[in-house]
Amino acid sequence: MIKTILSATGEPIFHLTAGDASYVISVFHGFLLHLYAGPAISDDDVEYLLVRVGHDSVVPRPAHTPEGWFSCDIAPFEYPAYGSGDFRPSAVMAKMLTNDQIDGTVEITGGAPTTAVMYESHEILAGKPILDTCPAIHAADDECATLVLHCTDPATALKYDLYYTVMRDYPAVCRRTVIKNTSKNTSATLLRAYSASLDFTTVDPQAELVHLWGTWGRERHMERTPLLHGSMSVNSRRGASSHYHNPFAALVTSKTTEESGMAVGMSLIYSGNFDITADVDAFGLTRLMAGISPDGFEWHLDPGAQFVTPEAVIVLSGEGLGKMSRVYHKLYRKHLCRGEWADRERPILVNNWEATYFNFDDEKLVAIAEDAAKCGIEMLVMDDGWFGIRNDDRSSLGDWFVNEDKIRCGLGKLVEKVNALGLKFGIWFEPEMISPVSKLYEAHPEWALKTTGRPMSISRSQYVLDMTREDVRDYLFDTISGVLSSANIEYVKWDFNRNLTEAGSALLPAERGGEIFHRYVLGLYDLLDRLTTAFPHILLEGCSSGGGRFDPAMLYYSPQFWTSDDTDAMERLDIQLGTSFVYPASSMSCHVSASPNHQTGRVTSFVTRGNVAMAGAFGYELDLTKLTDDEKDLIRKQTADYHRYYDIINRGDLYRLILPTDNYNGKTGKCASWMYVSEDKSEALFTFVVIRTSVHPVYFVKLRGLDPNAIYVDQTTGKEYHGDTLMNAGLNLTKNYRDGDSVVIHLIKK
Ligand code: DGJ
Repeated sequence: MIKTILSATGEPIFHLTAGDASYVISVFHGFLLHLYAGPAISDDDVEYLLVRVGHDSVVPRPAHTPEGWFSCDIAPFEYPAYGSGDFRPSAVMAKMLTNDQIDGTVEITGGAPTTAVMYESHEILAGKPILDTCPAIHAADDECATLVLHCTDPATALKYDLYYTVMRDYPAVCRRTVIKNTSKNTSATLLRAYSASLDFTTVDPQAELVHLWGTWGRERHMERTPLLHGSMSVNSRRGASSHYHNPFAALVTSKTTEESGMAVGMSLIYSGNFDITADVDAFGLTRLMAGISPDGFEWHLDPGAQFVTPEAVIVLSGEGLGKMSRVYHKLYRKHLCRGEWADRERPILVNNWEATYFNFDDEKLVAIAEDAAKCGIEMLVMDDGWFGIRNDDRSSLGDWFVNEDKIRCGLGKLVEKVNALGLKFGIWFEPEMISPVSKLYEAHPEWALKTTGRPMSISRSQYVLDMTREDVRDYLFDTISGVLSSANIEYVKWDFNRNLTEAGSALLPAERGGEIFHRYVLGLYDLLDRLTTAFPHILLEGCSSGGGRFDPAMLYYSPQFWTSDDTDAMERLDIQLGTSFVYPASSMSCHVSASPNHQTGRVTSFVTRGNVAMAGAFGYELDLTKLTDDEKDLIRKQTADYHRYYDIINRGDLYRLILPTDNYNGKTGKCASWMYVSEDKSEALFTFVVIRTSVHPVYFVKLRGLDPNAIYVDQTTGKEYHGDTLMNAGLNLTKNYRDGDSVVIHLIKK
């Protein structure tokens, strides 16, 4: 998987093979240059790809390279450092705090953040070393190999280890950087420390960026935009990965489609402030980099200390965005999600939030569970409002004690009653928060994040706990464990409903003020680690006012995430199809809710609400006791169908056929369509939804991913088609649909 040859300068060229992709790095007078990333190539020495244009006087040349054509200003770097002639955005910027001597020979220039990352040596390891900090991809020793490039800054005591893990069965390269201060008596400060950077020498002149933007209730809408000269950044400074941008972007060419062309995905396994920047320079070289956002970031490195960046996962597809997504789906499902529930069939749940909001008691919950049991639903989730004195969102966060005015029979008894109906029981927490009106705040006002002397901004009537503090995490571990051990609880929904402001901690020394956001995230991971280790059988579902922290790092702990608070089926088409650019169906929690929809007021049929929610971890979010018998019959059908289709949807390959944003062929209304194909191509599930119809619309949809030579049978009509007919001629779906109508076709190979 990792081959080394020597270049003309006698330095190594590394050819990494990841699945059917190549990634080539060369060392050139100590600089680490990026030569190629994309579909597999057979040559190792591709230094000829370096751009050798004539330079004008404003382009500096390094002092030690004899080649007149070489300039850092145009070289494609692996980990670009600030300050020595590469004027593009840098991946790393560091300074030593005081003048000092290293081994009595080199004098550090005291405070200037000029940084260099020069190759010293390398190691090739079987497997993937564990660097215990942030969540990361896991794989057995024979499933991957790791190249470690040991680099140094010759003028300081800082050392840089660049880790590249290549996956045997996936065109994916996982990158992290470890920065060490090897000085015995001098501290250093990191001002930028990205996880990965890639400089493309050979991109189509018109590179484009695909990314996922959004806001509350409108998460992860896919946007594709041409890159112009200069930088474009998607990022978060909110303390969480956020509703606004997802830590993902893909570099594509103007010609890339779902099925063809280059697509390089960059996905950061991180839940806090991040930045993904794409930069196009004057010569068309395109840089794509990902890491912790440098805004407000300043990491103090004591003598002997090291900093480990989060992991960035680069997926290299030569067959369009569809293949890139399918690689992320399988990789994240099998090598990122962990624990008993990682790939296990999830229970179909009913959550009481949109059924009751805060207005419920034990009897209401049991009534919902009784109807759920009759309809094939397998778990009841008790959402917000069961603890403290919480009858609206203005109090009690932090007081994780059962409110026995609402749960009059007690939690243990309630769970027994639900279990007796044949249902599992799940519960909601929002661990990282504290209400100013709570017993916890009365006892520990200093546990909330704040900056001394500044008023604290309030959001949803709550403050954020200082997760950097061990005593806070111990309190949360003890109180949450107490609840989880008190009854047969098999699922937890972990919510997070505001972002971080005036972020400061009473316990952090002044020189560490710039560490608060990252330390917050590390504190969160520590608590999640402790709880998932103590309660391995519990299925954890992440949530953040819907999908405000739907990121790869959270999937490491919670293999499913509440996709959005917007449960309107039409709105969900954009949200779910956007989410599918990176995240597997099994990670997207999707529920059938009431109509008219509570967020949009839109009326959609029960059938279509079910067909759309079946694109992920399926459930219900409505008052079952208020449904008609016909609707309950439909639930029985939907729950049975979901079991039948579980494997195809959650473990099959997704093909996005029509995105709601596509300008479908002009003869039709607005629609969306997607399909799943089982890994062995023996079954497929096709879904088509009309968002807004038109007069006499004409709809043809070509299927993908089937075996062209096989015969597939439509399980509803019995009609037989060859795979090649379905893929090349397509289905004729022309009919006079109403807005919100949908069609699902289950095909089985004959
Ligand atoms: C936001 C979540 O996204 C909702 O599903 C619900 O759990 C509420 N919080 C409860 O406050």
